Amino acid sequence: MKRNKIEELSGPALFQDPQLNKDTAFDAEERKRYHLEGLLPAVVETIDDQAKRVNMHLGIKPNDLERYIYLCSLQERNETLFFKVLMSDPARFVPIVYDPTVGEACLKFSHIYRQKSGMYVTIKDKGHVKEILENWPVKDIRFICVSTGGRILGLGDLGSNGMGIPIGKLQLYTACAAIPPEPLLPLLLDCGTDNEGLLQDPFYIGLRQHRPSTVELDEFVAEFVEAVQEVFPKCCIHFEDWKGADAIRLLKKYRNKVLCYNDDIQGTGAVALAGLIGALRISGKKLRDQRILFFGAGSAGIGIANMIGAAMQLDGLAENQIRSQIALFDINGLLVDARTDMSDEQKVYSKQLPLTSDLVAAIEVFKPSVIIGVSTVGKTFTQNVIEAMSKISERPVVFALSNPTDHAECTAEEAYRWSNGQAIYAAGVQFDTVNFNGKTFYPGQANNFYLFPAVSLAIYATQPKHVTDEMWIEAAKALANLVSPDELSKGMVFPPQDNIIELSAAVAAHVATVVFDRNLTDYVQPADIKCWISDMQFQPVYH
Ligand code: NAI
Repeated sequence: MKRNKIEELSGPALFQDPQLNKDTAFDAEERKRYHLEGLLPAVVETIDDQAKRVNMHLGIKPNDLERYIYLCSLQERNETLFFKVLMSDPARFVPIVYDPTVGEACLKFSHIYRQKSGMYVTIKDKGHVKEILENWPVKDIRFICVSTGGRILGLGDLGSNGMGIPIGKLQLYTACAAIPPEPLLPLLLDCGTDNEGLLQDPFYIGLRQHRPSTVELDEFVAEFVEAVQEVFPKCCIHFEDWKGADAIRLLKKYRNKVLCYNDDIQGTGAVALAGLIGALRISGKKLRDQRILFFGAGSAGIGIANMIGAAMQLDGLAENQIRSQIALFDINGLLVDARTDMSDEQKVYSKQLPLTSDLVAAIEVFKPSVIIGVSTVGKTFTQNVIEAMSKISERPVVFALSNPTDHAECTAEEAYRWSNGQAIYAAGVQFDTVNFNGKTFYPGQANNFYLFPAVSLAIYATQPKHVTDEMWIEAAKALANLVSPDELSKGMVFPPQDNIIELSAAVAAHVATVVFDRNLTDYVQPADIKCWISDMQFQPVYH
């Protein structure tokens, strides 16, 4: 197909097509055939030579935001070279194209805007969303990552500036799991914004109106979801960074109707579960025996609790037993029956225990073996908290997942020191190794990039009818099992990030077997799933 297109586009138009452009890598014969002679300097370079120049440019940029802008322009100019660079070292580039740099990029998105990327469908397009989707030049779209910009990372409502998130998430599909980039479509459903600063900003690129009511939003989303089914029948909708309540409601509405998932809810839950399974491989304990206290009962806390609960259920634990082993604590204290301020999702985990807003008291009464911080508030796992956890369990599991770094409930060093080296620790951010009592500890990072690209690769390969919790749970187990005994002995609950593409392929192969075992697809199971998947993966080479 590329060959036909290249013949069609011969001449300078080739430089405008990011999939076909090779720039200085067009060789002498191609330059003659496609009428490019004189349009390029004399040198003929390999993609490796070009990647070295990109790295040299990146090295002299003053900060990561400038590197982000440069890389986005590169993607629009030469997609193969862009992914060649990203895939050479995903762990190095993810923090530039995604979190944390993408947060700053979204805050300034309207100001750093250079050229369009992806699609913007506005609520004013209601009634003809289908015709608008038909404008996208690629017909076989397999994933749409869609946001309303309603809750971008920890930055709140950023309206159309939130487009940086769908773009970045889909870049990670390719960078971390080698999913071909062509069938990926970033999309911003522009429903306005309640961010007054943006509404007043003369450069703001989105609709200048306030957000609609929930009823209007849901009608618009219903039309969008239906239009996707018609225009791109094989497409999986990946919901990302919607307002918490919208995210939960819409996932519940669509998860069994169409092919879709929400990474903030399911991906986050599965990555935390993978860390927990990794931690239990270190302590030699069973998931079904754990008592888990969440410090923070927002969308991350509830999402992770539900995913761990679903995993316990698959382990044979009864629902009432699961509910008794998971407790949550929020800004007003432990979730207990006497409280009147709990949402329906929170009430599920409410306990018949005394009211308390003291975390240490809650630990003493609930006796958790695992504590998971998702509160957004740093330094809240104090020495007393870690010591209380250490009294209950020989190897307490302490996950301080809030980010950025200064929001982490405690640092790795604090967790190891206050537990006398017994805590099994992971964070939402990457902490350096810690030397304590002559031993070096390697704290894990519960980074969502461990799983959503891998699960998406399995979806891409198998085209399931739905994305089930079991697929995420099996992905979590597969990831946790990739931590080697040597890595476990160093306190690592996740595998190292530097070979993420191979990790993703292995996890995807395992998830694909679940899809086949559960008859979630019409495809016939191939003899060698790993080879079958690897044949579909993208290679950043020129053709
Ligand atoms: P949210 O705003 O929905 O929920 C925060 C919760 O913490 C609420 O229940 C709130 O009542 C509680 N809280 C706030 N202050 C508190 C205090 N002083 N004491 C006790 N509880 C308090 O936020 P969301 O989306 O649930 O995210 C929470 C954190 O988790 C964020 O920092 C986010 O960065 C992090 N996160 C990490 C992930 C990862 O590591 N893979 C993935 C998703 C979120």
